[in-house]
Amino acid sequence: MVPEILQDFQLKRFNTFGVSAKASEFVRINSLEDLRVIRDYLSQTPEKPFMVLGGGSDVLFRQDFPGLILLMEMRGITVVNEDTDYHYIRAGAGENWHSFVRRMLDAGKTGLENLALIPGTVGASPIQNIGAYGIEVAERIVSVECFDMQSGEVVEFSAEQCEFGYRSSIFKKPENHKYVIISVLFKLPKNWIPLLDYGDLKREIDSYRPPRLNVEDVFASVVALRSRKLPNPQRIGNAGSFFKNPILSREKFREILRIAPDVVSYPVDEDRVKLSAAWLIDKAGLKGLRMGNVGTYERQPLVIVNYGQACGEEVYAMAQDICLHVKNYFGIKLEPEVVII
Ligand code: EPU
Repeated sequence: MVPEILQDFQLKRFNTFGVSAKASEFVRINSLEDLRVIRDYLSQTPEKPFMVLGGGSDVLFRQDFPGLILLMEMRGITVVNEDTDYHYIRAGAGENWHSFVRRMLDAGKTGLENLALIPGTVGASPIQNIGAYGIEVAERIVSVECFDMQSGEVVEFSAEQCEFGYRSSIFKKPENHKYVIISVLFKLPKNWIPLLDYGDLKREIDSYRPPRLNVEDVFASVVALRSRKLPNPQRIGNAGSFFKNPILSREKFREILRIAPDVVSYPVDEDRVKLSAAWLIDKAGLKGLRMGNVGTYERQPLVIVNYGQACGEEVYAMAQDICLHVKNYFGIKLEPEVVII
């Protein structure tokens, strides 16, 4: 069946900021065959831009999108293989991330529990290398399967070829936008080792004092922490952390320490230090700030929220304002984590 291409399509329900924006065209992708048909269709108008949307939880539409949106809905979870150490699981790009984590636990497969409740899809997870509570998804990925919209070939990138970094991968580079992620192959360790290095998570678990810690305790603690600290996008529009935590050289870090000795920081390697963007925004006096329809969330100022009817430009203006204040206050330039269209 040929996928139906809808015209002049409203994206408000398809981005977690909940801002209005129209796509000239919109299509749902349910199979590799759909992608092949759409590739042929796009080849007739090579100047027309296209963009893949998963859960819409990491994008901000500043304006209408003058091209074709591909809503990725390819599903399916298969146990591919196992060896002495790992279960190997392939999941379709259109699977909801949190449901996937839950289904893995239900099947007795651990290793993703610290990443519970992250909004979005499996296919989006490697793009920005989602991470939380002491782990990044890269640590659980074997390879990423893509459809090349230029050549029409299916290609598989090993984790190494993905060049994962803090909220980054090769898929963020403009020249790689031709790759549509169709599935991700995960390796989940058979021997469960709880990851409790992240202070907040450790404290949350300690507060329950489970008699014998199991994976469900970790899952429940992550869900509880996130629900408490982060706004539910179904109720208040947002895209999680709007900015990345900035990474500075040790030298620049020493300068910051002079003006802000209590700055929250984490070592990255011998030469670099990561600072808490939430702390910087908070200290710059911007926590809970509200400007019309938009604001910084009162419990986590790294999250910009839409209180109702904000348009993309308003959210963007707020982000610019935060950047400017933090730059003036600390001399540090915050980079968005959210993809701005
Ligand atoms: N903080 C403040 N004021 C606040 C809130 C936090 O000063 O109002 C400081 C505190 O010192 C706190 C520190 O910021 O200890 C860190 O806060 P948090 O634990 O919420 O983590 P984060 O660094 O702000 C990152 C990720 C989140 C992820 C959490 C937990 C980024 C950009 N964000 O936030 O990911 O859930 O760690 O691991 O790396 C996302 O990417 O969308 C996201 C939500």
